[in-house]
Amino acid sequence: MSRSPSVLIVGGAGQVGKELERSFSDFGDIVSVDRDRFDLAVPEQIRALVRRARPDVILNAAAYTAVDRAESEPDIAMAINAAAPRVLAEEARQLNALLVHYSTDYVFDGSKSEPWIEEDPPHPLNVYGATKLAGEEAIRQVGGRFLIFRTSWVYGPHGQNFLLTMLRMGRERDRLNVVDDQHGAPTSSIELANATRTIVEGVLAGRFGFDDAWAGLYHMTCSGSTTWCGFAQAIFARAGRLLNGRAPQANPIPAADYPTPAKRPRNSVLSNALLQHRFGVQLVRWETALDAVLEELRKDSN
Ligand SMILES: NC(=O)c1ccc[n+]([C@@H]2O[C@H](COP(=O)([O-])OP(=O)(O)OC[C@H]3O[C@@H](n4cnc5c(N)ncnc54)[C@H](OP(=O)(O)O)[C@@H]3O)[C@@H](O)[C@H]2O)c1
Repeated sequence: MSRSPSVLIVGGAGQVGKELERSFSDFGDIVSVDRDRFDLAVPEQIRALVRRARPDVILNAAAYTAVDRAESEPDIAMAINAAAPRVLAEEARQLNALLVHYSTDYVFDGSKSEPWIEEDPPHPLNVYGATKLAGEEAIRQVGGRFLIFRTSWVYGPHGQNFLLTMLRMGRERDRLNVVDDQHGAPTSSIELANATRTIVEGVLAGRFGFDDAWAGLYHMTCSGSTTWCGFAQAIFARAGRLLNGRAPQANPIPAADYPTPAKRPRNSVLSNALLQHRFGVQLVRWETALDAVLEELRKDSN
């Protein structure tokens, strides 16, 4: 491509959307939109948005992500997580644009003891997972030039996430009960955005072939795994002055002692082997990514 690519970021105010804005800032012509500019629940607004922008690349970081609330709002979750991605895929296909979309480890039921691979049959335990799976299926049905990255336990310097919640609660309490029998890979929005950029750049440059054989679904998480309690302990051990000098303890409890509206899988660790094999991309270990996010928060608090 001789001219610089145009990129439409959908959901630029979300935690991943913000990092995509940063990661792609020098990539080409960037248009980033969020709820103030359109409503994903209204298909005509999505079509109008894409037809106006005529992007080469659409990065869809918008989603209905309130896992527990989705149990009581299945229709709106389905509209945003499944119907909207279908419209984006249709519009992308019309333009021969690349659509990048994110999905979730919660498409799996957690019954496997090994990391899940892309070919494993999904079986969501909750409404959120079911709507995200429906979104994957919609995009695959439409086809074209698409990449779906299934990720997990996303956190970063902005937005609502486990890290920021633990830091806030850790400044208020000496001891916190945290679930210790759900396993996954905390994945920083920074790592996710940077890996996305590397792959999008490679795709546009034809590094993975020009026949679109690279299109499809891939797992994309930080390396390694832990439990929510392990993640909390790592945060408390590293956060230092972000905890205002406090040293809170994370106390392991079973999920049965912390009932939530949505069920969550016992093991949702994803294998990233296919991502590495196809694109040569490997995200750093979750502890390394955590250090980088904490460092950024420290800089921001200066
Ligand atoms: N967070 C995780 O742990 C996690 C795990 C696995 C996969 N993922 C996936 O990763 C992607 C990015 O997630 P994230 O954590 O960055 O989510 P996020 O911080 O919740 O951001 C989602 C964005 O979508 C916007 N949005 C929601 N409904 C909308 C609507 N009707 N119209 C327009 N915009 C709307 C939200 O706006 P408002 O804030 O105004 O609602 C928000 O800016 C999603 O596909 C998610 O499913 C996330």
